[in-house]
Amino acid sequence: MIIGSRLLFYKELPSTNTRASLLLNENEQIEGTVIYTDYQTAGRGQKGNKWESVKGKNLLFSIILYPDSIIPSDQFILSMSISLGICDFLDTHFGGSVIKWPNDIYVKDDKIAGILIENSITGETLESSIVGIGLNINQENFPSGVGNVVSMKINTGKDYDRDICLREILSAIDLRYRQLLYGDRIIIRKEYISRLYRYNEVHMFRNENKIFKGKITDVLPSGQLKIEDENGEISHFSYKEVEYVK
Ligand code: BTN
Repeated sequence: MIIGSRLLFYKELPSTNTRASLLLNENEQIEGTVIYTDYQTAGRGQKGNKWESVKGKNLLFSIILYPDSIIPSDQFILSMSISLGICDFLDTHFGGSVIKWPNDIYVKDDKIAGILIENSITGETLESSIVGIGLNINQENFPSGVGNVVSMKINTGKDYDRDICLREILSAIDLRYRQLLYGDRIIIRKEYISRLYRYNEVHMFRNENKIFKGKITDVLPSGQLKIEDENGEISHFSYKEVEYVK
């Protein structure tokens, strides 16, 4: 087991990703070290958003990795394998989880987990990576305005033991990470695509101020989303360049 080889728990932190980064700056940490907490005062999401979570209800953790066999132009494969690990864990509790590109985990049209990966690149390798995950477990009420959100408890009506969930999810992610290091990356790509939210369906997207109809046809190794519009024109978008319109 690589992931979860060392567990560091803090009652409260500004952010587990920030803590992981400070630890990495101090010393080389064992690969697979997990920093987790009950509460974050400055939890961070993608695109500079905040990640808020009620104290003691959910999982908030970061994993330190050294994925030095991944070249930077292929770095999205790490995100693919982490997303699949989270879905594998959810599959053992209920079906229906999907990946909303680039790396949100959804159940139907609601977000259950978010991933924030912060890579440090030196030359031609991914020197270190901090994989931060927020998974909604027992929280039942979310502030209005955070959009469409769900938790495991809202989905099934059951209460979950967060320590057991942490162990389970770490071992599911560990399997995927080892598949990434020693296995077949083509399979990871295929499985990611097969779990992709709104894959190959016609939907509305927004690029800058333009709204257009199109369908997702692939995700490139760089992580760019490939969309074919209604005129058959194909475009590649990076994360900040395209948005889903309901
Ligand atoms: C997103 O969906 O925008 C990504 C959310 C990532 C949240 C997790 S919670 C644990 C870790 N620490 C943080 O500050 N962020 C990530």
